[in-house]
Formats: sequence, structure tokens, C-alpha cells
Amino acid sequence: MTFSQLRIKQETLFTSCSEDDDTPGLPQAPSTGISVQGNQVIVNLDEATALNNQGGWALVTSARVLIVNIGNNRFSALTSVCTHSNCDRNWTFSNNVFTCTCHGSRFNTDGSVVNGPAIRPLTSFPTTLNGRTLTVDFG
Ligand code: FES
Repeated sequence: MTFSQLRIKQETLFTSCSEDDDTPGLPQAPSTGISVQGNQVIVNLDEATALNNQGGWALVTSARVLIVNIGNNRFSALTSVCTHSNCDRNWTFSNNVFTCTCHGSRFNTDGSVVNGPAIRPLTSFPTTLNGRTLTVDFG
């Protein structure tokens, strides 16, 4: 994970924060270029720069959505709710594989299982790229 990926992960973490989530010592930055409107995640790719390159990814905790750039201006969006035991925010991504660090299940960018304990794929959501705006329909 690059620094920018880590940063966007932290920033998106706080998009869903209620006042109860204010944790001293952690950045309280607003999300950068990512917003959730109804059942859509709207990404301004000029601002959410971690998603600009293949392998760049983001966890949008408020929508429980993982987004990854899979190259050639294509993106994959998946539920972040692990099908093993419903962990929804303990994700890492490397070598085109998402890992749920709760118990080690791994998933391809299309949501299919690489290895368990999960046995069911992550739900995939449709994405639309319009100029520099990426929309994920997760409803
Ligand atoms: S909840 Fe993801 S591996 Fe167990």
C-alpha cells in the first residue's frame, strides 16, 4: 500500500464518522474527492488521486464499498462486507488481490474467492466512468 492509498483509506474512513467516532490523535480530514449520495458513491478522480493508477484502491466505509482501478480506465467496485464473517473494514490490497485481514480470506478484483475461509464471492457493483467522475451504484 502506498502512502496515498493509506491516506485515502483513512480519509474515507471518516466520511461516515458520527461525533462518536472522533478519536483523538487521528486525522479528521474530510474525504478527498469521494462522496456518498443515496445509493451511489461519486468519485472525482482529479481529487481522489490514489485511484488514478492501476492497483490504486479505496475503502469507502460509509457505503461499505471497495473500489479498485483495474487498468485501462476500468474500475471494479465490490462490497466491503466479507462473506466469511462480515468484517467490513479490515482490507488490504496487493498483487490484484483483496485480503480481509480478519481471518485471511482473499478475493480477486471481480469479487471471486482466491482462498477462504470465505467460500462466497464479494458482491460486485456496477461502475460508470463519465469524464473524470466515477459512479458506483451499490443500492
Ligand atoms: S470476516 Fe473476512 S476472513 Fe473472516
